[in-house]
Amino acid sequence: MADATPRLAVLASGRGSNLQAILDAIDDGRLHAQVAGVFGDKPRAFALERARAAGIPARALRPGDFAGRDEFDAALFAEVASVRPDLIVCAGYMRLLGAAALAPWAGRIINIHPSLLPDFKGLDTHARALAAGVPEHGASVHFVTADLDGGPVIAQARVPVLDGDDADALAARVLDTEHPLLVATLQLLCAARIVLRDEVVELDGRPLAAPLQLASNRLPA
Ligand code: GAR
Repeated sequence: MADATPRLAVLASGRGSNLQAILDAIDDGRLHAQVAGVFGDKPRAFALERARAAGIPARALRPGDFAGRDEFDAALFAEVASVRPDLIVCAGYMRLLGAAALAPWAGRIINIHPSLLPDFKGLDTHARALAAGVPEHGASVHFVTADLDGGPVIAQARVPVLDGDDADALAARVLDTEHPLLVATLQLLCAARIVLRDEVVELDGRPLAAPLQLASNRLPA
């Protein structure tokens, strides 16, 4: 992936601030990549508008138009494949992905999740972190497998949980750190420095003993 400009396909269901962080990093030269298409399950998602505003093809399919999840996934991934991505980035894509759709993309699809995995997989991570009384929360970027939020973790960003936080305040603090985390992880992936081999994350050919940790908006790599 390091030679030609890496092609990204982004999956998004919502407002698309992580997509925007990728587009901004490409625009200002921090990320050597191009977004070849943006895809989703919500035709009115603001993420699609952001893509179109940047001149990027954007397409959402409606799950209700398909017989089931596998049929929807197959149609969505046919759209994704049509833009020949090197890497698929789930950036606020809120549907489960089935094993059949994922199989051809093993090691080439990542997700950003708003918790320090393996803690708080699934939804409502911020409220659950507050209810659990953890002192620290954050976000993780991981390779996607059919195991929900369970694929090998590449990198994380940590934030403190502060007195008086509610779920919205904590979510905003985490989101601020998601953007640099996703960009820094993509820098390593697009330079082919991070790869998944036999379900183990490797950096520069060596297995990662633990997820990389974002510090001062950078990953120590
Ligand atoms: C982000 O917080 C992302 O981590 C989360 O959705 C938000 C999307 O924000 N993703 C998940 O919860 C996936 N399970 P955005 O649309 O502004 O990028």
